[in-house]
Amino acid sequence: MRLFQLSLRFIVPLALVLAAFALILLPLVDDLTKRWFLRDLDTRSQMLATSLHDPLVDLVILQDTESIQTLFDRSVRDAHARAIAFCDTSGRLIYLSSGFPSGLGCQGRAPADLQVSESPIDQEGITLGKLVIAQDTRFIERRAAEFRNYLYAIFLLMFVTISALGAWMAHRSWQGWVQSLKSMMRRETFAQGALSAPPEFRPLVGDLRAMLHEMNVERRAQQHSPQAWTPDKLRSLLHDELAGDQVLVVSNREPYIHEQGEQGIVVRRPASGLVTAVEPVMRACSGTWIAHGSGSADRVTVDANDRVQVPPKRPSYTLRRVWLTAEEEQGYYYGFANEGLWPLCHMAHVRPVFRTSDWEQYVAVNQRFADAVVDEARSDDPVVLVQDYHFALLPRMVREKLPKATIIMFWHIPWPNPESFGICPWREELLEGLLGNTLLGFHTPFHCKNFLETVDRYLETRIEYEASTVSYGGELTQVEPYPISIAWPETDAPLDVVRCRREVREELGLPPLHQLALGVDRLDYTKGIIERFQAVERLLEQHPELAGRFSLLQIAAPSRSSLDEYQSLEARVRKLALAINQRFANPVAPPILLRVEHFDEEQLARCYRAADVCMVTSLHDGMNLVAKEFIAARDDELGVLILSQFTGAARELHEALIINPYHIEQGAQALQRALGMPEAEQRERMRSMRSLVRDFNVYRWAGLMLLDAARLRRRQRVTEKIHSHSRQGLRRAS
Ligand code: F6P
Repeated sequence: MRLFQLSLRFIVPLALVLAAFALILLPLVDDLTKRWFLRDLDTRSQMLATSLHDPLVDLVILQDTESIQTLFDRSVRDAHARAIAFCDTSGRLIYLSSGFPSGLGCQGRAPADLQVSESPIDQEGITLGKLVIAQDTRFIERRAAEFRNYLYAIFLLMFVTISALGAWMAHRSWQGWVQSLKSMMRRETFAQGALSAPPEFRPLVGDLRAMLHEMNVERRAQQHSPQAWTPDKLRSLLHDELAGDQVLVVSNREPYIHEQGEQGIVVRRPASGLVTAVEPVMRACSGTWIAHGSGSADRVTVDANDRVQVPPKRPSYTLRRVWLTAEEEQGYYYGFANEGLWPLCHMAHVRPVFRTSDWEQYVAVNQRFADAVVDEARSDDPVVLVQDYHFALLPRMVREKLPKATIIMFWHIPWPNPESFGICPWREELLEGLLGNTLLGFHTPFHCKNFLETVDRYLETRIEYEASTVSYGGELTQVEPYPISIAWPETDAPLDVVRCRREVREELGLPPLHQLALGVDRLDYTKGIIERFQAVERLLEQHPELAGRFSLLQIAAPSRSSLDEYQSLEARVRKLALAINQRFANPVAPPILLRVEHFDEEQLARCYRAADVCMVTSLHDGMNLVAKEFIAARDDELGVLILSQFTGAARELHEALIINPYHIEQGAQALQRALGMPEAEQRERMRSMRSLVRDFNVYRWAGLMLLDAARLRRRQRVTEKIHSHSRQGLRRAS
């Protein structure tokens, strides 16, 4: 049908053009042919007259009528000459051929079907008379009609041939385009698709890719509806999509830290968003987690291969510990990762510090962990999940040893713009390391965009922005946003909110109806703790009546405390809390209750439930899982979340009170509004945020990444097969 339409579109105009051409051309050609024939007859008459002249002169002088008759009759046997006559000088017909038309005299008046020509007959300058030759013109009409018919036939033949050829070419092109489109679509994430596309498609390649990419994202979201993401769903995905494939996780922070306590060994969970997110995934897939063994009792709890089964109460996966010397930890973790990369990626106005000695340790430790991955790999193509900025170089190091591995990396912190990143003296090395990944994930599309622009600025690569891929050294890295989340609490006996409210207030020495805001953070300058305190201070300045009726409980888990920047932050935080508490001192309760210590999961869950407001005021944050944990804890659907606009979470949790933490008045106003918010409004906001966090949980985060990885893995395997076939073919041919 499509071909028919296409052909019609081509054939009808062609027929019209040829018909118009024929209409204009045919009368002209007709006229021309007739004139050619008449001229031809004239020439023939001249030739005949010339050939008859001399014999005729002799015969006329001799008045040999009989011979003249014979001469004339023989001459008119010619196909076109109808009659010949000789007229004397006074215009009388003297000799004529047989059948000379009666009406035709010596005056040259001829009927329509004859052409008459006259030639003088003379002897030595004396005119004897003239020769009249009448030629038959009827054949001219006949010939012209025949010629017209030939022309018609030629036009028809041209029409049929061009139409057939056109239809065939259209058909071939159509097939070619369809083939090209299909192969481009099959290679929708491969940069080389653009080069192999026909030139007329090249401008479209980007649009097609973008469309396919969007369709892919939509399909993924529809096929795996968010409600379906549970540990079981993730397990079955691993089974179906990565059947039998080994999953290895690499992170700096370990999920369980064994510490030597006074009464023996205790297990501690670190304050880490990364651990919160990756642990449930590992439980679901029973792989091996490779991490720095940092606890004082870590070495005594591992086996001969530095492995320990975790979680301690219900072991479901292996933790492989890597040991670092104090010097290595200082250079790689405190130095390059946390004094260099951390401030580089967070816009919190703390200058990054780059030292060559730190960089050298960072390279060496990345190599140590890469070797551990190779060591733990049971096959040449494991799935390796690399976590965070501590291991920017590791993906390429692993790729060199295990070229077939599927390496997925998630960057848990923001990615800055190219100018900011550009100040790092080893920017090219870091980017090259990251481009060893098969898949590189960030929290938000904005971080992905920043990364692609940074790569574009500092490395010679081919970037497909629409498909979000980078091609470097013949390898392809897919860059995608995967907003991280938490595991939705699935407990048979959730903590009772009323009880938590009462108990927590009692423990803090607060009256039962005291209003409580909560902050839970690592003690880090990116978290905006100072700005949060300033907002409390401003609120109390504006509403002194709130003193003694409201407090902020700030839980600040000590973090990276050997670094100057963190020590000075702790000092400033303590000092400001003290100053505010002194300024607004009252007998009931201080405005700020600062706890610089680790709270375990259960303690935190109780605080989340006891609070009226949760304040997340980060100056810059990849996602911030505290915001999501608070929401997940509030099964009473009450409580208000104040959320910084500079967190990844603000892109999802629109029902929070979104603030700019640098704007202290705004923070104070939000706090006042939160403390006075009617329950109905709290419920409406909380219900909506809860349904989002429940659906877009950490299993979905991991599931979408693993689904993409499985797709890329299948593609990689097919490509390898094709390469190996063609290599075999080449070998056979040679
Ligand atoms: O935010 C980045 C991050 O690596 C998180 O994933 C984690 O919660 C936090 O830093 C922990 O930092 P550290 O391991 O240095 O204590």
